Amino acid sequence: MEKLLCPSMMCADYGRLAEEVKALDRAGSDIFHCDIMDGTFVPNITMGLMDVRTIRSYTDKKVDVHLMIENPGEKVDWFLDAGADIIYIHPESERYVVKTLAHIKERGGEAGIAVNPDTGVSGITELLNLCDYVMIMTVNPGFSGQKFIEFTKKKLEELAGLKAEYGFRLMIDGACSPEIIKETGALGVEGFVLGTSALFGKEQTYAEIIPELRRL
Ligand code: DX5
Ligand code: ZN
Repeated sequence: MEKLLCPSMMCADYGRLAEEVKALDRAGSDIFHCDIMDGTFVPNITMGLMDVRTIRSYTDKKVDVHLMIENPGEKVDWFLDAGADIIYIHPESERYVVKTLAHIKERGGEAGIAVNPDTGVSGITELLNLCDYVMIMTVNPGFSGQKFIEFTKKKLEELAGLKAEYGFRLMIDGACSPEIIKETGALGVEGFVLGTSALFGKEQTYAEIIPELRRL
């Protein structure tokens, strides 16, 4: 199964953002992952619209926006206008999830849900009808450098069994190390958000790491 390798840009060197995007693009990254946080839905504030616009301007690869914000439906247009190809919303943060996913798709974007460790598959089954991507949080959202939550593997197995019926790509976000890529890849996960566990702050270059992760 073809992997989707998605550098988590909140982990990039912000003093050299343009160079980072170009180097990650050249190294063969598939999707640039932008974590947007409002300090309320998650206890952190990270990237914003200007970061998305900047990243968009330096690559033709897909840019995804992971909205860890309250009431994302009111703000998805801002990120689509900023150049996002994919928008992930949290079902835990939106009253009208179906409506917002449908709106993203009506605007020509690809729609995804990002699902917290607290949320089971039974609570999201209806949403799968509208998802191009389902991203399972394998850490509590908001910070890089956390520990992988083992019980999320059960949810991954359950969702992998639903991919054929609904046609979504199954992704994980959080503590995604080479070992986790191998293990969850075997469960049917296709896409991996790469942060400090696999990509950033390492001795090797992105051009060395990305191809190695793709071969796992
Ligand atoms: C978690 C963030 C991710 C990721 C970072 O909310 O969305 O950026 O965890 O990667 P790690 O966990 O490997 O540092
Ligand atoms: Zn994320």
